[in-house]
Amino acid sequence: MALNKQPYRGTRDFFPKDKRVRDYLFAVMTKTAESFGYESYDGPLLEEVELYKAKSGEELINEQIYSFTDRGERFVAIRPEMTPTLARMVAQIHRESSKPLRWFSIPNLMRYEKPQRGRVREHWQLNCDVFGCPGRLGEVEILQVAVELFQSYGANSTHFEILLNDRAIADAVFKTMMKATSEQTHRLYKIVDKAKKITHEALQKMFGEVGLDSVAENIFYSYLQLKTFDEVKIFLEKNEQNEIAELFSIFVEFTKKAGLSEYLKYDPTIVRGLDYYTGIVFEIFDKHPDNRRALCGGGAYANLLQIFNEEPLPGVGFGLGDVTLRDFLEVHKLLPNLDIPVNDVFVTFQEDDCLDAALKLAQLLRKNNLKIVTSLEPLKFKKVFPTAEKKGVKFVTLMGSDELAKNQIQLKNLASKEQHTLNLSDVEEILKIIKA
Ligand code: HAM
Repeated sequence: MALNKQPYRGTRDFFPKDKRVRDYLFAVMTKTAESFGYESYDGPLLEEVELYKAKSGEELINEQIYSFTDRGERFVAIRPEMTPTLARMVAQIHRESSKPLRWFSIPNLMRYEKPQRGRVREHWQLNCDVFGCPGRLGEVEILQVAVELFQSYGANSTHFEILLNDRAIADAVFKTMMKATSEQTHRLYKIVDKAKKITHEALQKMFGEVGLDSVAENIFYSYLQLKTFDEVKIFLEKNEQNEIAELFSIFVEFTKKAGLSEYLKYDPTIVRGLDYYTGIVFEIFDKHPDNRRALCGGGAYANLLQIFNEEPLPGVGFGLGDVTLRDFLEVHKLLPNLDIPVNDVFVTFQEDDCLDAALKLAQLLRKNNLKIVTSLEPLKFKKVFPTAEKKGVKFVTLMGSDELAKNQIQLKNLASKEQHTLNLSDVEEILKIIKA
C-alpha cells in the first residue's frame, strides 16, 4: 500500500514559498522584539505533563495536550504553550539576574484541536515576556511591543484592536461583590469567557447553575454591560472597590501616555482560558469583518514561579500565532509578494568549455556576500531569461567560447536591460555594477 503524501492532520509542510512567508513573519518578530531589548531563548519540545497541570487549565490538559509515557515511565507532553517552560527556566536563574528580564522566543507548539481557519494542531507562536518590572510598567511595555509589531507589518488601528480586562477586576466583582466561592468564581470565569459566543438564554441557564442569588445576578449582568475604562472605574467605585479602581486607573493613565489609547478597548468578557493570569488580560482582534478573531493573547501572571517554590516574581507577556497572523495580513493585503525567491546573480554559460570559469566566477561573487545561482549546464539563450525570472535574480552573466577566449563575460541587468562586456579578471568592476 502506498503511503499518504499529506502531512499529519492539522500540521503543515512548508514548501519554499510558504517558508519564505514564515521567514518574513519571524524576521519582523525578531527585529521588533530586539528593538525593545528582548533576548532570544528556547526550551525543549517535551516537558513533564505536571508542568502544565499546575497552572495551564483544564481545557489544555483534558482536551488539547499531546502526551505519552516515555520508555522511562515519565508522563510527558509536547509543549502546547511556552509560558510554563519559560517560568521553569526563569525560576532557575532569576535570583542572580538583574531585572527586568526581557525574553522572546518563536517555538512550535502542538495542541489537539479541530483544524479550521486560524486553528491548527501545530503552530509557531511568538512569545514576548517581561519579568520583574516595577508597578504596572511591564504591562504597558508588553502592549507597546505588540502594537509596534503590528505596525511593523504595516497595520494600524483601522486593522486591529486590543480588547483588555484585568483579572483583579473580575476577581473583585465575582468574589467580593457577588460573594462567589473560589469554585463558583472559577465557573464564572468559564461562563464569561463564552459570553459573546452564546445566546442570552444559554448564558442565563449557565449562570443559574452556579447557584448565586439575584443580587449577585444583577451585579453580574451590570458587569457584562461595561464598555469603557471610565464606566469600569465608576462601577468599581460605586461598589466600594476603590483600591482596584485606583490601580486600574494608574494602568490606564500609563497606556494613554504611551500612545496606546486608540488601540485599547475595555471588554469584561476577556478573562482568557489559561489559569495563571492574575493582572491584565488581553486579546488582539482583527477588525476585518471576514476575520473577526483573536490574533494574539496575553496577560500578567504574578504567581507562576510559586509552583517551583520560588518567591513570586511578576511576569507579563503575550503569544502571537503564525497562522492567525498570516490570515490577518492576507485579509488586509499587508503581506508582501514572496512568490519568488530573491537572488542576486544567475551565472550561466552557453558552451561546455566555459563550466570551470563560470563556477570560479560564481564562487568569487559568493565570497562578496552575493546570492549566486549557477546553471550547472550550458544554457541556451532562450532558456536563460525565463529561468532567471523564476530564480528572482537581478543580474545574469553569459559566457560562450568566444568570451572565454577573450577572458570576458556579458553581465546583464534584468530590470534596466543594460548589458556590459567585462573582463573576467576584473572582479571589482563586476561587483561595482552589481552593487550599484
Ligand atoms: P493562547 O491564547 O493560548 O495564549 O495563544 C496565543 C495565540 O496563539 C492565539 O491568539 C493564536 O494566535 C495562537 N494559537 C493558539 N492556539 C492555536 C492553534 N491551535 N492554531 C493556531 N494558532 C493558535 C498562550 O498560549 C499564552 N501562553 C500566551 C502568553 C505568553 N501569555 C503570556 N505570555
